[in-house]
Amino acid sequence: MTTKEKNLLDLAKLYLPGGSNGNNITMDIIIDRGLGSKVWDTNGNEYLDYSLGSGPMLLGHSHPEVVDAVSSQISKGTTYFGLNKHMIDLAEEIISAVPCAESVRFANSGSEATFFAMRAARAFTQKEKILKFEGGFHGMSDYALMSMMPNQLQDFPSPTPDCEGIPESIRNSVLVAPFNNTEITKQIIENQHNEIGAIIVEPIQRVIPPKLEFLKSLRKLATKYKIPLIFDEIVTGFRLDYGGAQTYYGITPDICTLGKALSGGFPIAAITGKKEIMEYFSIQNKSEKELVLQEGTMNGNPLSSIAALTTLKILKQKNTYANLKKNGTQLINSIKQKLIELEISAQVIGEFCFFDIIFQKEPIIDYRSMQNRNKNKTKQLNKLLLSKGIYKNHSKYYLSTAHSEKEIEKTIDAIQLSFQKI
Ligand SMILES: Cc1ncc(COP(=O)(O)O)c(C=O)c1O
Repeated sequence: MTTKEKNLLDLAKLYLPGGSNGNNITMDIIIDRGLGSKVWDTNGNEYLDYSLGSGPMLLGHSHPEVVDAVSSQISKGTTYFGLNKHMIDLAEEIISAVPCAESVRFANSGSEATFFAMRAARAFTQKEKILKFEGGFHGMSDYALMSMMPNQLQDFPSPTPDCEGIPESIRNSVLVAPFNNTEITKQIIENQHNEIGAIIVEPIQRVIPPKLEFLKSLRKLATKYKIPLIFDEIVTGFRLDYGGAQTYYGITPDICTLGKALSGGFPIAAITGKKEIMEYFSIQNKSEKELVLQEGTMNGNPLSSIAALTTLKILKQKNTYANLKKNGTQLINSIKQKLIELEISAQVIGEFCFFDIIFQKEPIIDYRSMQNRNKNKTKQLNKLLLSKGIYKNHSKYYLSTAHSEKEIEKTIDAIQLSFQKI
């Protein structure tokens, strides 16, 4: 570490709570720039980036077409607090791509999008409770932080707040079920459907793939009791497939939230879904009593909108997802092979475009079945990988379309060497 970097890190400790802005991959590195599949720190060290800004940079950093599009907009103004052409074109593209999308509202982050999706569903049903899944991540709202990462496991469906500052009353507004468990989820819905205003689920919970039957049963129960089913596709949208997890699994929710891969690295997220629910956002169509307020200074700004629109144009090109799948499958299969060769008690879970290595032998189907994993080994592996120039989130590898086959081979070598050290 150079003196310059050390000084900057000291200043971070002085000016930012805990020396960070909350997004902590490592507290020892300050990222200076990114290009394609790589990032560089302020010391000039190069890393292959498997964090992708925690997901948005599916095309890699500073994709030239996105940079050009954004540059051409900057001199025309960056935000107007009104309609702009790019926002309308983007909404049109989302509607043509995503099965549940009939109209679209924009926000700036995934946390906002999930929050507004839940609010719209509550207004639509006139019912207050949200059913979510233990370990499911939906951002930072009070509702989302119920049983997102609980230390103390409650009996289902009682929720537990994951952090300080959440009003006690929120406990009464959230129900919690185990992911992938149709039986318990069904019981909860059947017992409390009169109070449930929305079911929110990550189609892949963190990196845990869904049992198809589970997603199908959610769809069935939601339809039976007229409860809006929200797919939180902030991670999966435009990543698993151009049409997201709903296209990949062939199950259409009533509402979904989109962000990350949609954004091209700019702050934008979307709430989209069936018109009859989305209409609650409309000043024209609802009386004041029925209106769901959803506005924000920067919502749908032309800069983020053109970045997203250009990103979608590139993602839509032929073979994008086939190539990503080929590379991701090669990476995952090679890691699995190394685990077998080295007789390491671990598994790779997730999908071709995002996954993690979990040091546990027993199958993982939900939050509870992951509790015995060896977290120290994950920490050790992440640290070793960082020292070998592989930059990743604590608990996820994100693959971009910019990672080359050669870089994937380099990654496999780094993983093998790190495995040997563990
Ligand atoms: C599934 C899911 N929903 C919501 C969010 C929140 O998104 P943001 O960080 O943009 O607020 C995230 C962020 O990682 C996420 O993974």
